[in-house]
Amino acid sequence: MKQQDIENLVLWYQKNKRDLPWRHTKDAYKIWISEIMLQQTRVEAVKRYYEVFLKSLPTVYDLAQVSDDELLKLWEGLGYYSRARNLKKCACELVRSYQGVLPDDEKELLSLPGIGEYTAGAILSIAYLKPVPAIDGNVMRVLSRVYEDERDMLNSQVRKEYSEILRKFIKKYPPDDFTQSFIELGAVVCVPNGTPLCEECPLKRCCKAHRHHKELLYPVKSAKKPRKIISKTVFVFEYCGRYSILKKEEGLLSGTYEFPNVDEKMCQDDVKKYLAQQGCSFSKIVSLGEFKHIFSHLEWHMNAYVISLQKPFKDYLYVGLEEIKMNYSIPSAFQKILEKI
Ligand code: ADE
Repeated sequence: MKQQDIENLVLWYQKNKRDLPWRHTKDAYKIWISEIMLQQTRVEAVKRYYEVFLKSLPTVYDLAQVSDDELLKLWEGLGYYSRARNLKKCACELVRSYQGVLPDDEKELLSLPGIGEYTAGAILSIAYLKPVPAIDGNVMRVLSRVYEDERDMLNSQVRKEYSEILRKFIKKYPPDDFTQSFIELGAVVCVPNGTPLCEECPLKRCCKAHRHHKELLYPVKSAKKPRKIISKTVFVFEYCGRYSILKKEEGLLSGTYEFPNVDEKMCQDDVKKYLAQQGCSFSKIVSLGEFKHIFSHLEWHMNAYVISLQKPFKDYLYVGLEEIKMNYSIPSAFQKILEKI
């Protein structure tokens, strides 16, 4: 990759960039929020979350003061709820020690909760126009093709080398456009799934994989560990038109609300016996069917049942359906069940 190639790329970006909400601001707080959301899901989905989130929490001070329940409701469906909790932790630290402003220094940013190299680079280059690159999966894919790099992209040495290369180039360009030009190219031209649009690519002259017609072989994918499968039985207890939920206090999805469940697959007869043993007095059990939810590293295979109670069972919260949907953060794994009740 030579200077001329980068120049072509930045010019291509300036001419072809998508009109995205976070590209209309230089407010570091807003750019930070957008970048954390963009690590979770597709650009199209982020647009909606971004608007709603910033309407509710327009400043660092609002984020530092929001209740965990409200925060996780704003994050509902985005996944990786620990990222949302880290946002708030970081906001509290910004209010406590940085007058409510994200610092424009790489070391200081990296010391804050939830801010890693990618996010620090994105904030510095896009919001503060500092010459620090940001390398996400898009950028790794582009560079692995340009250099026909056979190495595992999860290898931290590779990222380090790419960072050094980009640090040299970024000094000569507007840092915001430089960073986003690689991300944009990876998102719309040098795509991860399907055939990349190499004829439109401003880097086609320097791309080794393209020269050898081997774009699709990069990045080299190492064999992934298969996801662990967890079987679950989900109990939706119904009492007087209200349904049982409880707050998950720890582990995966902590802070969100779930339906009571056990890590064991039960048929309807098993459920009857199990609940009778627990001293639960119910009048009816209806199966809602089977549900599957895929996380990055595991899968939940769930059987769900609605159990009509004669008196409240355990100290779950009993809440009407509309109120659950309005006021409680129910992660996607349980949304499918909620919709079916
Ligand atoms: N993905 C990560 N950062 C992005 C950005 N600033 N614009 C579009 N997609 C992105």
